[in-house]
Amino acid sequence: MYFNKWFNIEFSDLFLSKKDQMETPYYLYDMNLLDTTLEQAQVAAELYNIKLLYAIKANTNPYILERIRKYGFGIDAVSIGEIKLALTNGFQPYQIAFAGSGKTKREIDEALQLNIATIHCESLSEWEYISSVYPTECTTKIALRVIPNVYTNTHQHIQTGGNNHKFGISTEEASRLIQKLIERNSTLLPCGFHFHVGSQITRMDYFEELSRSVLYFFQTLPSSFSFDYVNLGGGLGINYDDPDNEMIPNFTGWMRAIRPYFPQDRFPHVYLEPGRSLVGQCGKLITEVQYIKNRQDEKIVILDTGMNDLMRPALYGARHHISPMQPHSETTQFQTYTLSGPSCESTDCFGKNYSLPELKEGDHIVIHSCGAYAESMRLNYTQRLAPSCVYKEGNNLNMYTSQRKKIKVEQSF
Ligand SMILES: Cc1ncc(COP(=O)(O)O)c(C=O)c1O
Repeated sequence: MYFNKWFNIEFSDLFLSKKDQMETPYYLYDMNLLDTTLEQAQVAAELYNIKLLYAIKANTNPYILERIRKYGFGIDAVSIGEIKLALTNGFQPYQIAFAGSGKTKREIDEALQLNIATIHCESLSEWEYISSVYPTECTTKIALRVIPNVYTNTHQHIQTGGNNHKFGISTEEASRLIQKLIERNSTLLPCGFHFHVGSQITRMDYFEELSRSVLYFFQTLPSSFSFDYVNLGGGLGINYDDPDNEMIPNFTGWMRAIRPYFPQDRFPHVYLEPGRSLVGQCGKLITEVQYIKNRQDEKIVILDTGMNDLMRPALYGARHHISPMQPHSETTQFQTYTLSGPSCESTDCFGKNYSLPELKEGDHIVIHSCGAYAESMRLNYTQRLAPSCVYKEGNNLNMYTSQRKKIKVEQSF
């Protein structure tokens, strides 16, 4: 028996008998940590009078969605599929915002029919289309997603707030559109504004810069124009390097960086859309060492998981903390490894220079911070089976196969 402090799980319980053995790879979700994270996010949001929409793309697992719903979050969706998923998981239409630079006309039609809360319109053509089909009895509000022109120091593939990115419309286009709508006495006017600078942002000054940029834009709007809300997107980052020492992201710091720019009397309704920060740290991916290849200057480990189950390293060179599942003593020899997945792609690699206790084939290792953009980004490539899921709930472990079939209930220890 050995004991993992972080999860408070005796891992040998996962391998009690051959019959019940949990096959790797599997996602391991700590629902207790999820609860604490959601609670802290909501406490901070109440303190700063901010409403939270969960960016459902981060993790669409129904057990996670159920928990998020119970804590009273709304939903930020970017496709009709995500909207329907939210609805089937108990969210109400009035809780759902729909963004996305490439909404199809059919998706817009369906969203309007469903009377969701709001559509974040991302181009002039999209506005034109929405106004041309907007049903008279519809309650869906239409807001504009505007480019704040703020660049962060994060990987370029997860930046979204610059003038050269495909998201949203420019501040000039937005001001001109509103001016034109007012002149034409249009019945459909933007009800608010949406901004999103990108993801995995850990420096709060970027959120301050975003706020200043947004206020500057508001000054360019016609003085007769008023609107209901401002939505400043998501993007709060998590600690991938040392997750055990920062399991709960700095929600208070995030909101403190933003809210003072938007005083309550002028901006009663402020929204944020966290994804990664809510679910990132509650998930881990457990994998087994299949083969070890001793190359001249590196040891390559082939695991039974890879880009199919955790795409971030292959997609944008992301690095996750990886630790052994087996206990080790102070005298254990460490080796440096390159950790690779099984797919027929050289990019299917979690990275080089991982220092781990000497591994042997059959050992299990833990990939940390896999709650966000892991299960939801899973690929079917090469028809590899989806990992099963294990949920730690209180002192119990609930285990499900990838088909969500419960295979072991309330394993107490
Ligand atoms: C519009 C929008 N809002 C919110 C998010 C969530 O971002 P994060 O998971 O970094 O909080 C995203 C992520 O891409 C997004 O595109």
